[in-house]
Amino acid sequence: MDTERQTFLDELFASSRAHDEALEDRLQRFRNVEPETAELLGVLVRSMQAKRVLEIGTSNGYSTIWLADAAEAVGGSVLSLEVEPERTALARANLAKAGVDGFVELRTADAGEVLAQLGDGSFDLVFLDAERPAYVGYWPHLVRVLRDNGLLVVDNTLSHANQLTEFSELVYGDAQVTSTLVTVGAGVLLAVKSD
Ligand SMILES: C[S@@+](CC[C@H](N)C(=O)[O-])C[C@H]1O[C@@H](n2cnc3c(N)ncnc32)[C@H](O)[C@@H]1O
Repeated sequence: MDTERQTFLDELFASSRAHDEALEDRLQRFRNVEPETAELLGVLVRSMQAKRVLEIGTSNGYSTIWLADAAEAVGGSVLSLEVEPERTALARANLAKAGVDGFVELRTADAGEVLAQLGDGSFDLVFLDAERPAYVGYWPHLVRVLRDNGLLVVDNTLSHANQLTEFSELVYGDAQVTSTLVTVGAGVLLAVKSD
């Protein structure tokens, strides 16, 4: 990664942390992924040459910038979904500051509604980082929108394992995917779609 972009990301992460620490209400926090998880996303996109990336849960754009940096490197692009318009606006400004706005489509929309409309096999990699109770309902579409050997990446599978019990059972019990848990950051579930 370019040094200037890395510096911007470090500053964005630090300011988001300070913002979050001052807030009682979890939903008002930006809740950026851990930097090592963001690095993992960059490695996965590059190693898979993932040209079509879907992110569910943009927040202020921290993880989006990491995904976009990798998408730029492989000649791809990112579609990122965020339900709160103020967050999409913040993310838009941050993407522009990081110089990756040309590689991302930001959409203010409910992920469940968008997922239902996306085409079969239309993404190489999906990064899921939104409201966990909805994930079980997303599952059929998450598998459907991935191409064969496409990868689903889910954050917080260790930090919030209790909220993901049903979802994890669905994933590990589904023969359409091969899955593992990576103990990076808040715990990252990787599920590759079998062909
Ligand atoms: C944990 S934060 C995402 C953090 C971001 N991935 C990062 O690392 O910088 C979750 C975000 O998902 C958004 N969200 C929650 N439910 C959603 C939904 N149904 N559709 C789209 N976005 C949603 C929230 O508004 C919040 O900004």
